[in-house]
Amino acid sequence: MNAIEALHTRESAAKLQEPAPDEVALEAILKAAVRAPDHGRLRPWRFIAIRGEALRRFGEVLAEALQARSPAIAPDMLARERAKALRAPLVVVVAARIQRDGKIPEIEQILSAGAAAQNIMLAAHALAYGAMWKTGDPAYDPHVKRALGLHEDDAIVAFIYLGTNSGGPRPSATRPEIHDVLTEWRG
Ligand SMILES: Cc1cc2nc3c(=O)[nH]c(=O)nc-3n(C[C@H](O)[C@H](O)[C@H](O)COP(=O)(O)O)c2cc1C
Repeated sequence: MNAIEALHTRESAAKLQEPAPDEVALEAILKAAVRAPDHGRLRPWRFIAIRGEALRRFGEVLAEALQARSPAIAPDMLARERAKALRAPLVVVVAARIQRDGKIPEIEQILSAGAAAQNIMLAAHALAYGAMWKTGDPAYDPHVKRALGLHEDDAIVAFIYLGTNSGGPRPSATRPEIHDVLTEWRG
């Protein structure tokens, strides 16, 4: 698939199963991630791969964090939260380790991590894998960050679920017409 075709056809997977990207594919995907633009060459990106038995432990962490946020939460909601970690055979957490004492604004470091996450989505698609980009409350939860070995002031920008799309084509989310989102400024 050429680059423009990958860009024009990427969409989120409907459902993910094995096989996940193997070591070779994951390395190719992460090499695309670190091609993200990066103001000041700060290299803010941190990637954490979670697979195999660790996905179960990740599910426990998500449930513990939900319980801490909502102590009266019903057990079936905790079970649902736990199960989220098992939506795919591989999760890549994308975070920004933000340098706050320099001249590059925090938002630009977070944007760079977002660009890295999008490169992961596109590289996975180009290699015929499916992907879903999720965040939600766990992305902002200090318990989740600590459990993943991140600092509390790191910014998690994505939990990217990766595998093989077994959900068939999604009803493709419509895209805007370019003329609806483009204006031309003529001074
Ligand atoms: C920063 C970010 C966070 C997102 N978090 C979630 C999420 O937590 N749950 C969700 O269902 N979709 C989330 N999405 C949206 C989906 O990943 C997806 O892009 C959207 O459903 C549109 O589908 P498409 O990618 O096929 O166009 C997020 C997207 C971005 C950019």
